[in-house]
Amino acid sequence: MKRKDKVKIFDTTLRDGEQVPGCKLNTNQKLQIAEALELLQVDIIEAGFPVSSPGDFGSVVEISKLIKNTIVCGLSRSVKNDIKVAGEALQYAYFPRIHTGIGTSDSHIKHKFKSNKAKILERAVEAVKYAKTFVEDVEFYAEDAGRTDNEYLAQVCEAVIKAGATVLNIPDTTGYCLPNEYGAKIKYLKENVRGIDQVDISCHCHNDLGLATANSIQGVIEGARQVECTINGMGERAGNTALEEVTMILKQHPYLNVDTNINTKLLAHTSQLVSQTMCMPIAANKAIVGSNAFAHSSGIHQDGVIKERSTYEIIDPKEVGVDTSKIVLTARSGRAALAYRARNIGIELTKDELDHVYTEFLNIADQVKEIKDDHIVNIVKKVA
Ligand code: KIV
Ligand code: ZN
Repeated sequence: MKRKDKVKIFDTTLRDGEQVPGCKLNTNQKLQIAEALELLQVDIIEAGFPVSSPGDFGSVVEISKLIKNTIVCGLSRSVKNDIKVAGEALQYAYFPRIHTGIGTSDSHIKHKFKSNKAKILERAVEAVKYAKTFVEDVEFYAEDAGRTDNEYLAQVCEAVIKAGATVLNIPDTTGYCLPNEYGAKIKYLKENVRGIDQVDISCHCHNDLGLATANSIQGVIEGARQVECTINGMGERAGNTALEEVTMILKQHPYLNVDTNINTKLLAHTSQLVSQTMCMPIAANKAIVGSNAFAHSSGIHQDGVIKERSTYEIIDPKEVGVDTSKIVLTARSGRAALAYRARNIGIELTKDELDHVYTEFLNIADQVKEIKDDHIVNIVKKVA
């Protein structure tokens, strides 16, 4: 059997994720999350944007000293001083990486840089060459690659590979692409850029249309071998690709023949840590880590799950560090769920008792959002 290819997980919770208003972290908080990310076994931690503030510079220095087994990365623009400061911040890192780049779409070239394609290509090459004077591992991002024409994008990619880039990041910065477009972009680069097989192609997708994860997976299908993501999909606007989603999609679809190094049993814990530290609650219906991700409340589903979990669950909750599936009792629940929950608190009901208890259960359930264990005890006392 063909050995599975590894997809590297590049976590940018501490850089792109931290750009969310109200979620700024201090150095101690960043260190705590970096430690959790290393335990989770991400391959790369983007620790910050060192030139952006003295605090962020300090955080990148401290994370570089702390993290021993994971690549630590610092962001820069294609600006000499940014790159120099990133190099300085990473000087203690065991495995340092500078992440430098520039906008390549017509919109960025015209409005942001008031420049032209030739000059932007030159700046990209200069940035990579300069970054190489500090570290061996240099990742180049073509900002707004999602809206960059493929021919020019391929020229830029080829030039930066020649200049020494080790990873090519193809960001869909504005979350604009459809999965087939984004996948076609990666395919085009694979087929048209000389030297592309010497580097990793990285997907960095934003979620403005709710497609960040789908686009990243399509990128992987077309040959990308790094995905940039954040815990809980944290990030500006609608956020970034969610690490837990990418990881579990690749795990649940073995025929894609790729996997990650992530210790998935730590996903729930890491998700909670990031949510609490960044003061960013997780939606109950968030895939993999939402509080309802393994909760069943309709009678038909509950009956199925009680008989055999896999009838309505494609992931065993234990695989992501959640103890057990939840059977939530509401007015939509059936007898099987009520009997199951009663049994869990030590109350065995005969068929007749269950019929009586269930009638009273429905009366109460119509009045409250959820029936808890205390309710069951009281109903049984009243009826049985
Ligand atoms: O979305 C983006 O383009 C970025 C780059 C700075 C990598 O975050
Ligand atoms: Zn981004």
